Amino acid sequence: MLIGVPAETMAGETRVAVTPETTKKLMAQGHSVRVQSGAGVAASVTDAAYQAAGADMTDAAGALGCDLVLKVRSPSALELTQMKPGAALVGMLNPFDAEGLQRLASARLTAFALEAAPRTTRAQSMDVLSSQANIAGYKAVIMAADRYQKFFPMLMTAAGTVKAARVVILGVGVAGLQAIATAKRLGAVIEASDVRPSVKEQVESLGAKFIDVPYETAEEKEAAEGVGGYARPMPQSWLDRQKLEVAKRVAQADVVISTALIPGRAAPVLITEEMVASMKPGSVIIDMAAGKGAVNADGSVGGNCPLTEADKTVVKHGVTLVGETNLAALVAADASALYARNVLDFLKLVLPKDAAGIEVPLDDDIVAACLMTQGGEIKKT
Ligand code: NAI
Repeated sequence: MLIGVPAETMAGETRVAVTPETTKKLMAQGHSVRVQSGAGVAASVTDAAYQAAGADMTDAAGALGCDLVLKVRSPSALELTQMKPGAALVGMLNPFDAEGLQRLASARLTAFALEAAPRTTRAQSMDVLSSQANIAGYKAVIMAADRYQKFFPMLMTAAGTVKAARVVILGVGVAGLQAIATAKRLGAVIEASDVRPSVKEQVESLGAKFIDVPYETAEEKEAAEGVGGYARPMPQSWLDRQKLEVAKRVAQADVVISTALIPGRAAPVLITEEMVASMKPGSVIIDMAAGKGAVNADGSVGGNCPLTEADKTVVKHGVTLVGETNLAALVAADASALYARNVLDFLKLVLPKDAAGIEVPLDDDIVAACLMTQGGEIKKT
């Protein structure tokens, strides 16, 4: 099959969907790979490296015009005009973007959104949310350490003792766990909060303290258990108690990294303006939910903190708020390497060895969950 790998065109998107390593594997399965010249440059992959792996270099139209197109982000309207009706597309296509899905359906693409894969053991090797959130959690801490004007580790020097940074992590999914592990390696003292009770043990095993907010009703306990491993919106009673506990920790924190998300909904507000104002000058908040929060009165979209501005770093009440929305793209080489392996693993399900074209086995729960559009229709389950 002819597989195309266009360069990503979305602003700030540095990743690429196929690496020389995965090119070789696709070629070994009998496919031809056409990569747009320069597609890997921002991820430190040269055209020569793709060519050495067996790929042909082409232009945007050449890559987008293939039978199967592998992308990181959903194609733009212009890119869609260059794709063939009936072609297959694999990428992070944003399953909750109804208009975007309609555009893919209208272009008559068989489109698979990898973010929609279930969080099951079998789907782990193609779990793009995990591979990218892991990187984002790491980068959030590195960025915080860079913006923070003090040390992370406790240091005893001849000129006096420096205290360890206090880091608070809000939301301990994949990104939050990696943030804890990274901050720990740098020597910080860490506390973390999540709605899901199963997280406590993981937080403690990484050497951080869990901010316990006990459940007082059956409704709170049930909501906390979530669905399919994901968080559900918590009852207000629990959120109010969580806010009190979190507020105390945030006031003492040097760095707050917030990652709390609820799929398909606005990210919850966990750091109010009052809490930001209570922080020490020079403190840093990395809001990984930037651009995914509630709409503010002025029409802007915050994150876990309403003061966050998406894709900007701002200083408010003396606190630096970082609203970077694509942290994984700032570690482009490894983010691409892991993403490309996720894509390759997914292709095993829809592009079996020696198959003439894409197959869509709907009895496979991963394929059924990822299939967004086919034959001009939205198929999202
Ligand atoms: P996510 O990115 O959807 O959310 C981040 C975190 O925010 C979650 O831990 C969530 O519980 C938390 N959160 C939501 N509302 C909150 C609030 N009000 N206060 C504090 N925290 C709040 O989560 P992610 O990283 O995508 O992980 C989702 C689940 O999937 C987790 O249970 C994870 O362990 C599980 N998972 C399972 C895999 C597998 O079995 N193959 C692979 C990867 C993840």
